Amino acid sequence: MSKASALIELSEPPKPRTLTGTGRFDVLAVREDFPILRETVHGKPLVYLDNAATSQKPLSVIGAMNRFYLAECSNIHRGVHYLSEQATEAYEATRVKCQHLLNAADASEIIFVRGATEGINLVAATFGRRHVSAGDEVLITAMEHHSNIVPWQILCEEKGAHLRVAPMNERGELLLDEFEKLLTPRTRIAAFTHVSNALGTVNPVNQMVAMAHARGIPVLVDGAQAAPHIHADVRDLDCDFYVLSGHKIFAPTGIGILYGKRALLEAMPPYQGGGDMIRTVTFEKTTYAPLPHKFEAGTPNIAGTIGLGAAVDYVQQIGIAKIAAHEHDLLEYGTEVLSRISGLRIVGQAREKAAVLSFVVEGIHPHDLGTILDQEGIAVRTGHHCAQPVMDFYGIPATTRASLSFYNTREEIDALAAGIEKAKRMFA
Ligand code: ALA
Repeated sequence: MSKASALIELSEPPKPRTLTGTGRFDVLAVREDFPILRETVHGKPLVYLDNAATSQKPLSVIGAMNRFYLAECSNIHRGVHYLSEQATEAYEATRVKCQHLLNAADASEIIFVRGATEGINLVAATFGRRHVSAGDEVLITAMEHHSNIVPWQILCEEKGAHLRVAPMNERGELLLDEFEKLLTPRTRIAAFTHVSNALGTVNPVNQMVAMAHARGIPVLVDGAQAAPHIHADVRDLDCDFYVLSGHKIFAPTGIGILYGKRALLEAMPPYQGGGDMIRTVTFEKTTYAPLPHKFEAGTPNIAGTIGLGAAVDYVQQIGIAKIAAHEHDLLEYGTEVLSRISGLRIVGQAREKAAVLSFVVEGIHPHDLGTILDQEGIAVRTGHHCAQPVMDFYGIPATTRASLSFYNTREEIDALAAGIEKAKRMFA
């Protein structure tokens, strides 16, 4: 890849160029916010279709982090000096932005974590340990990412509890009736994804939460793949916990959000001990800081959090509805274009789908296909996408996955199709 073409300046972050005078979504203008999209790979223009793995970062996010390290670097909640106060203010301002993004009732219900994975582990290790006992059940679904399987397995093994799995159909849609039947008097928590990373399925999470709550069962929703494609409103959803990863919403890696209802978070024991999560410490006893700090031991990812704040601003300025509409158009176009390729089968054909196109091509291993596409400058993910049980369900080892973002274009989908046709000729 050639050297990054953009000079990140220590100036005010540029405003998103997304909206034309008429308010129409202008994808070419959006792309200007993402300098990496002007790069070439193997001498070809980069076609970045691996957004479910991680999204690219706009200049405003890169600039916000640069400014922190160039001019504002300091620790938070610890100093009385100017820089520390500035850093604390920026860090806490992001919490409020995230509160508004998710429509949480209170900023203290937003806990900063490394990502969705850490959020789920936190809940399993605290809430889970406290409420799950031998013979109890934890309910997940057949389309979970490993991060929403393994933490619960660890918990169930430790407690002698049972992991139950709600099945899906061939299209990759959850069988809602089966899900409901698996909510039993022994179910202590139901944890399910909002959007499947491997299939793109959008789950009927409102109904799922209501079904669980009707039986007094708390719910965790894994929103890693939903944001920023879908507007998640935790109060409308009424979920007890919601997790997401910043790097999938144009923020840096290593920062994410755990939302939890205040009463639940307050009742939960801390996850990690250390600085900043305490009220008082003696060798005999420690008392803990109030929310949200009880769950934020140690110096956090301050620059990443500030980057997350800039990313949330960016998404809000563009508008999730506009993002979703453009992605939906790309999904429809991509589905149509790929469906015309003989020997290609789309894996995951749910009626409610986010912009994920997972597929297999007869006679070509996904890794070979990924390598050939890479030579064309096209970045896709190949493999099991951290969802091995999904692959097992379809009896395949892997898929090739093109995951789209609002800065992608129909022309890039055409380039993907041309790359697949080229690979087919090579393997013919
Ligand atoms: N969970 C991420 C993906 O789907 C990494 O690729």
